[in-house]
Amino acid sequence: MKNENSPLQEIRKQYAPVLPAILQKQISKISMDKGASTESVDNQTKMKELFPHTYGRPMVKFIEGDSEISMEPINIGVVLSGGQAPGGHNVIAGIYDAMKAANSDSQLYGFLGGPAGILENRLIELSGQYIDRYRNTGGFDIIGSGRTKIETEEQFRISDKVCRKNGITALVIIGGDDSNTNAALLAEYFRKIGSKISVIGVPKTIDGDLKNEQIEMSFGFDTATKTYSELIGNIERDANSAKKYWHFIKLMGRSASHICLECALQTHPNVALISEEIEQKHTTLNEIVTSIVDKVVKRSEQGEDFGVVLVPEGLIEFIPEMKGLIRELNSLLAEHQSYFNTLHTYEDQSEWVNKNLSRDSSYVFSSLPNNIQRQLLMDRDPHGNVQVSRIETEKLLIEMVEDQLNELKAEGKYKGKFSTQHHFLGYEGRAAFPSNFDANYTYSLGYNAYLLIGFGLSGYISSIQNLAAPADEWVPGGIPITMMMNLELRHGKMKPVIRKAMVNLEDTPFKTFAANRDTWAIKTSYAYPGAIQYFGPDEVCNKPTLSIMLEQE
Ligand code: FBP
Repeated sequence: MKNENSPLQEIRKQYAPVLPAILQKQISKISMDKGASTESVDNQTKMKELFPHTYGRPMVKFIEGDSEISMEPINIGVVLSGGQAPGGHNVIAGIYDAMKAANSDSQLYGFLGGPAGILENRLIELSGQYIDRYRNTGGFDIIGSGRTKIETEEQFRISDKVCRKNGITALVIIGGDDSNTNAALLAEYFRKIGSKISVIGVPKTIDGDLKNEQIEMSFGFDTATKTYSELIGNIERDANSAKKYWHFIKLMGRSASHICLECALQTHPNVALISEEIEQKHTTLNEIVTSIVDKVVKRSEQGEDFGVVLVPEGLIEFIPEMKGLIRELNSLLAEHQSYFNTLHTYEDQSEWVNKNLSRDSSYVFSSLPNNIQRQLLMDRDPHGNVQVSRIETEKLLIEMVEDQLNELKAEGKYKGKFSTQHHFLGYEGRAAFPSNFDANYTYSLGYNAYLLIGFGLSGYISSIQNLAAPADEWVPGGIPITMMMNLELRHGKMKPVIRKAMVNLEDTPFKTFAANRDTWAIKTSYAYPGAIQYFGPDEVCNKPTLSIMLEQE
């Protein structure tokens, strides 16, 4: 085999991402329009105190006009932070192309392995030739990523030192809500010490929870949900062909259920659980199980002993009694960690836990299957918290549904067969080739990030709006990060953070799902989205997510 690359890898390199019309103009013909000053989403007085140098800045939009952008050569540092999201490479390509279009002497540096690369002064110069190998590809392997947070005064000081040492006067932080929160803190720090280094954020995360009125969606959500929907559609078609399995599919997405909702809209499964609804209605685990059982029985009565259930990754945290149990377990095990570590068998551990939990939580704990009890006791993160994403909720539901069905069978109320398969879809979608939407969106976000730097802004997040329209009609600009922030309790202290977006039950995407789910539950109505297409008619290749189309219709 001569060529290491796949044919798609080779052909995809040649794709020219579409920029919003205004960004297609010469940089010297792009001007910046400033709006009125802004306020944070909440806790305005306190936020103003915490961000005296960067609070209240205006939103900006790029428009045609004689530019006052600096065309001086600069050195920019870029960092990829957190979980992979398709399109990260194109953000970097967009920054590079805009930067070189403004001044070919400017240089782009990539910090290696995420924010730790800044703290450890590990960076490489990103040449055009090097970047060309990564255009329109998925993954973050161009410079790697990591989850180190830059949030302390000492880390800010090191960041300043490292930037100065490398002659870097602008940092682009490509990350989720936490990383962009820290970008705002770093921007404030730099201004406070009189440094001219600007910090610009780029909204990344497949989870879709970094969004608000200004940021319509984070990049990567489009490709990841299309990838999962392809796989769910394939599983649905398999289920409808063999007619013998109920498939329980857990979907990544952390706490929010945006991914699950979007995939449900695309594939019409029999059941899709939405954590935010479960929390709002205080639905218990037993009620969730009973409602699935109800659908299994009804479908069985019409001869269909098969189906598909979508489960959001963070579900368990939203079930009221589980939330209480997890909270108690976290503090119990944190307080008595050294004693707990002396208990070597699971039997000893569960006996001790059962004795020390409150009556309610002990009841919930003992009613869980053994493997889930084990996961609750064993899988802890460095802060001592249960790693909820590693709890196999899909298996928990299968076991509990099975138990209820057995009872119904014994009473003669169910005669069907319940054979199951379980799946977890997550990593399959995070590094996929970006869809045309994400390729265009990320390239535009990067290009736009350069403009924000060129206009001397700091503490802003790159924003591209009007995303339900074709790419050339998108509206580029910048949002002061403080505008998206409020105070929230973190590790016992009130901290300024970007407000996370959970699924809003009042919004059209959820309402559309809710209006259809009863039909999809019983009548097999699967939709098969198929693989992401890159070449062909617009409705097949360039359609954004259903969520954003419904939000903006
Ligand atoms: P980000 O929030 O950093 O974008 O990561 C998203 C995510 O894929 C979540 O959906 C998932 O829970 C988590 O990362 C998995 O983390 P890890 O990559 O450390 O296994």
